[in-house]
Amino acid sequence: MKDAVASAWDRAAEGWSRSTPIVHAWLRQATAAMLTEARLHPGARVLDLAAGAGDQTKDIALAVGPTGDVLATDISPKILDFARRSIKAAGLTNVRFAVADAERPVHAEASVDAVMCRLGLMFCMNPAAALAAAFQMLRPGGRFVALVFGDPANNPCITTMMKVARKHRGLSGSVSPYADGGLFSLAAPGRLASLLTAAGYVDVAAEPLSAPFELPDAAAYVAFVRSSGSPIVEVLAPLGAKAREAAWREMEEALQQLRCEQGWRGPNELLFGSAARAG
Ligand SMILES: C[S@@+](CC[C@H](N)C(=O)[O-])C[C@H]1O[C@@H](n2cnc3c(N)ncnc32)[C@H](O)[C@@H]1O
Repeated sequence: MKDAVASAWDRAAEGWSRSTPIVHAWLRQATAAMLTEARLHPGARVLDLAAGAGDQTKDIALAVGPTGDVLATDISPKILDFARRSIKAAGLTNVRFAVADAERPVHAEASVDAVMCRLGLMFCMNPAAALAAAFQMLRPGGRFVALVFGDPANNPCITTMMKVARKHRGLSGSVSPYADGGLFSLAAPGRLASLLTAAGYVDVAAEPLSAPFELPDAAAYVAFVRSSGSPIVEVLAPLGAKAREAAWREMEEALQQLRCEQGWRGPNELLFGSAARAG
């Protein structure tokens, strides 16, 4: 299972990395809020879990400065290679990298000031284990901050695309939107907060945060989802090329209704989780 997750993200690595400008613009405010909530300061030690192609890693590295230290981890070696290259190209020398499953503590790391995870925690099949591992690595008084997908009812782009993808795959019957390891696995009311509390954290909060996509048109959004290795790509993967194209076309048509004066605006709701290890 872990190998399958790592391979899926290895396949998506190039696409996610290429989409960095879109992801950066989409999550600009949310990332700034994460940095504030993590109370980063020059010299801080930070663990960036499920770091992906390193977009937020760069912001974290800049916030902690040359005397700080960032360890960026991810389960996919390929995506972490993109992060490594991007951090090097930015001339940052305060970031280390390790291929690691967020559900296990990195034993060499202890007493970090903050553990951060942008859009990775919901992919953990056992998020309780990931939160426990993060807790173990935090120093007393250290902060935990995570961004995950929020209420599916407020994420119509994803739910529409998934519905169309499942129809084209011939997958009938309803599945829980909150399935473990899925995009919305932590979106059920109260789930993230109760997991944080159960893992021993204090000062627990989990608040919705609106992060709409603003793009020139629906085609740009569909192109982003296609290249970013989303679970929708995985649903369509077993189909032949023609059938896949038909599904993507239908998704684009359905999303045309979100056209607006400025171009295209896709509503998107995230959940902003924060907590601390008691000092
Ligand atoms: C949507 S991307 C987010 C990447 C990056 N944090 C960002 O916001 O751009 C999700 C990332 O989670 C990673 N991931 C999924 N399951 C993981 C796990 N169990 N442990 C560590 N990383 C994991 C994937 O490899 C991928 O890089």
